[in-house]
Amino acid sequence: MEKLSHPWWSSAVVYQIYPRSFCDSDGDGIGDLRGIIGKLDYLADLGIDVLWLSPVYASPQDDNGYDISDYDAIDPLFGTLADFDELATGLHDRGIRLVMDLVVNHTSDEHAWFVESRDPASPKRDWYHWRPAREGFEPGTPGAEPTNWASFFGGSGWAYDEASGEYYLHLFSPKQPDLNWENPEVREAVYAMMRRWVDRGVDGFRMDVINLISKTLPLADGRQEQGAPYSDEVERVANGPRMIEFLEEMNAAVGIDERQLFTVGEMVLCDADRARAYTSREHPRLGMVFTFEHMSLDQGGFSKFDLRPLHLPELKKNLAHWQTALADDGWNSLYWENHDQPRVVSRFGDDSPGHRVAAAKAWATVLHLHKGTPYVYQGEEIGMTNAGFTSIDDYRDIESLNFYHEAVGAGADPAAVLAGLGLKSRDNARTPIPWGSDEPSYGFTRGTPWLPLNANADTINVQAALAASDGVLEHYKRLIALRHELEVVQLGRFELLLADDPKLWVFTRTLSSETVLVVANMSSEACGVPVDELPRLGEAELLLGGSGGDIQTLDPWEARVYLIRN
Ligand code: NOJ
Repeated sequence: MEKLSHPWWSSAVVYQIYPRSFCDSDGDGIGDLRGIIGKLDYLADLGIDVLWLSPVYASPQDDNGYDISDYDAIDPLFGTLADFDELATGLHDRGIRLVMDLVVNHTSDEHAWFVESRDPASPKRDWYHWRPAREGFEPGTPGAEPTNWASFFGGSGWAYDEASGEYYLHLFSPKQPDLNWENPEVREAVYAMMRRWVDRGVDGFRMDVINLISKTLPLADGRQEQGAPYSDEVERVANGPRMIEFLEEMNAAVGIDERQLFTVGEMVLCDADRARAYTSREHPRLGMVFTFEHMSLDQGGFSKFDLRPLHLPELKKNLAHWQTALADDGWNSLYWENHDQPRVVSRFGDDSPGHRVAAAKAWATVLHLHKGTPYVYQGEEIGMTNAGFTSIDDYRDIESLNFYHEAVGAGADPAAVLAGLGLKSRDNARTPIPWGSDEPSYGFTRGTPWLPLNANADTINVQAALAASDGVLEHYKRLIALRHELEVVQLGRFELLLADDPKLWVFTRTLSSETVLVVANMSSEACGVPVDELPRLGEAELLLGGSGGDIQTLDPWEARVYLIRN
């Protein structure tokens, strides 16, 4: 296929579904594929171009499907392959492409490959990272792990296998052993599996923690803070020397570029320069990456649960840095939320009843007017808030539960640990979608939901959102339509203004004779605008937001978008 100067996703908006929390059709309390099929018109009406489906493959569900035991099967919890095909057809009929999660840094420990690999004599032994105990240590005793690496979910990154007397690497849970990408058979098996899904009609992949697949060899100790149980030096495990090679090989083997498949790589420790190398149009390796840089700006210390207040200029400058770094080559993804992050209106905005709607709209506006491909995570489009759980019994997420038990076990105050979870736990964004207001479980399920719904589902639900003519949902529709309609929104050059202003987020996007100006008050107080420092608004058309009145003072969370024709 001819190489496009601007790939099709430069004008696309992606919607992410976390299937177990979207809509349940069979009453088992867990969302499923038929539940999604029943909501296709809702998605089409929103105007999205791509649906990214978090994993629905066969899985023991230790990490809610990010632990896959059969890449070619749909987990019965979610439905069947026939349901999957019906979903793909239903999406394609509505002009929406389907992107699958690709989880290939690790499999489940119940995957046939790993089961076979447990036998030291098996040809699959080398498909995973097996290592003997540290020299001088008795296998299975404290400190005997081959390296001092931590797992992202707490504890050591190595699990001891008594039967063989060796350890296997798991950067996530012990039920998620890391595949050994150095082995060419592993790579070919992954590419073949990807080709099967593409042949089935899948339009691309969201690649889970993809820059962990190449590890620096030999696997060796990282720096360990004094008193810390393990090394948290992620640099040792991320961005290994063969990353580019593996991605290029995958691209060729699956025909990613040739078929214009959509790819986004989730990358811990990925800065903008690396992202440019991965997403350069000259050497296509990935369509775009998910960075974590902007997601760590409210992190105080070592752990993601140690919080500090967000300093708005830092966030603005971080996004601006990525816009500039990828201005001429490479491509950005734009996101505030996903199934691993809390709700943006609670995290960075103001979810109090008086401000929630305006704050959700303001955060949506600034994100969607940047250059890149925006992502909407289910429920974000109706301004859903954090779950606000106050008891550990309400949590289901493995990361949150491990963290709580480790911290409390080490003497931390349970109330303080719960406060951290209340703000940052992944379950904040995983609460089921409340579809209606007058049905049991708000129309999510006829049964018992696997995770409690938000306590505010009475007021924040899809039915109410659909009925509000000037609500958050309507605002998302307009933002999505703007991206489709205006080339300047797709491709315009970005410039940040008033970078150090602690409340205002102001920027322009310019393409030939058109300039889009965004002026947003990102605070819960009214805010004066230094109009002299903005481009001249004489001929400007107000595209979105505001009452159309004077711009000298913006209401709390008021965000305006102007189009200026030069
Ligand atoms: C990133 C995924 O988004 C997250 O949900 C998962 O726990 C880890 N990767 C491990 O697969």
